[in-house]
Amino acid sequence: STIMVLNGPNLNLLGTREPATYGYETLTDVESLCQDAAATLGHDVECHQSNHEGALIDWIHEAGRRVKTGDMLGVVFNPGAYTHTSIALHDAIKGADVPVIEVHISNVHAREAFRHHSYISPAAAGIVVGMGVQGYVLGIQGLVSKLKA
Ligand code: DQA
Repeated sequence: STIMVLNGPNLNLLGTREPATYGYETLTDVESLCQDAAATLGHDVECHQSNHEGALIDWIHEAGRRVKTGDMLGVVFNPGAYTHTSIALHDAIKGADVPVIEVHISNVHAREAFRHHSYISPAAAGIVVGMGVQGYVLGIQGLVSKLKA
């Protein structure tokens, strides 16, 4: 079945955006890493990125509906800066009742204080932080093994 890989604001700039923090891999590179990781586990991925909070909410709702019909496993989600601001995304995950693994490329806890709090974490099934873009792969593996358990 399908895993949704969802990326929030500014992650379309991966590869050129603050490479010392986020690395040189592009979003396209990350999405193909995810494709390979999922395929190895017998799954596939559907990747979306948006800079708009409401669009991300709509994708979470869609994932929730598709989890219910058995067409989707859950979401590997890097909410970008909405992590630190969005009660609406927290509510969307709770409301859609969808398993979400929260991913951050950088170690947000080693950075500015405003990155230390996440509105997403209390609604997430698991969190991967500071593992670089490999975090998306770990998120996929974690989601699959959690759902098998
Ligand atoms: C991020 C961390 C956030 O604080 C930041 O706003 C991002 C990326 C990460 O992947 O490390 O946009 O989610």
